[in-house]
Amino acid sequence: MTAFDRFRSAADAVRPQAAVVFGSGLAAAASPAFTPAATISYADIPGMAPPGVAGHRGELAVGHWAGVPVAVGFGRVHFYEGHPWERVTRLVRVVAELGVSRVILTNAAGGIRNDLNPGGLMAIRGHLKLLDAGSLAALAAGSRLTNPYSLLAPELPSGVYAALTGPCYETPAEIRALRVMGADAVGMSTALEAEAAAELGLEVAGVSCITNKAAGLGSGPLSHREVEETARTAVARLGQVIGQLLRI
Ligand code: HPA
Repeated sequence: MTAFDRFRSAADAVRPQAAVVFGSGLAAAASPAFTPAATISYADIPGMAPPGVAGHRGELAVGHWAGVPVAVGFGRVHFYEGHPWERVTRLVRVVAELGVSRVILTNAAGGIRNDLNPGGLMAIRGHLKLLDAGSLAALAAGSRLTNPYSLLAPELPSGVYAALTGPCYETPAEIRALRVMGADAVGMSTALEAEAAAELGLEVAGVSCITNKAAGLGSGPLSHREVEETARTAVARLGQVIGQLLRI
């Protein structure tokens, strides 16, 4: 029996209804509400890879979030780490196989719209998929879906998330262009996972934690450390929002 087989048996006992995926620096939002019953390293899940970015732990757990049976992915792999879209979307496909009907995708993002400030949260109501992998993934999935986000966190401002390939932050000129295109926040993940999940028939919610003003809109250069530090200040509120989304 492999570690993955054992994990799947544990998941069968828990029967997770929903999955949560945590992006950069956001995993702490799971405590104290989440109690794990079983955990597996991404490295032990066939078709997955351990995340190579600081702030991403690389574990999938099943357990209970304030009494609701859930699967929680701590960290994700990104397209910019050199992974093909199949691996980027693997986590979502694994939790779908575990039986969840809803997935909540979180990420760290730069705020473009004036009211989206560091430490705040944004419900993703649509995305601009500006990833090089995007059209390939849609083509392979035979996708005819339009907007994957079927579930919006109540009480949060909503906005459009622009998913860029990365790994570099944008230039101020790119941010001005993104604003004209209708983007409210910018990041390097989530869009492919959201589309894969919707394609599998899951309800999808996306929540961005605004960790910085996008390039050229704040003071000074952007850094991954700043992103992680600001993420830490928003985790308690993010945990509450996830709790609400699990109960809708
Ligand atoms: N740009 C892209 N990705 C990000 C940012 C940003 O400003 N902040 C956090 N992730």
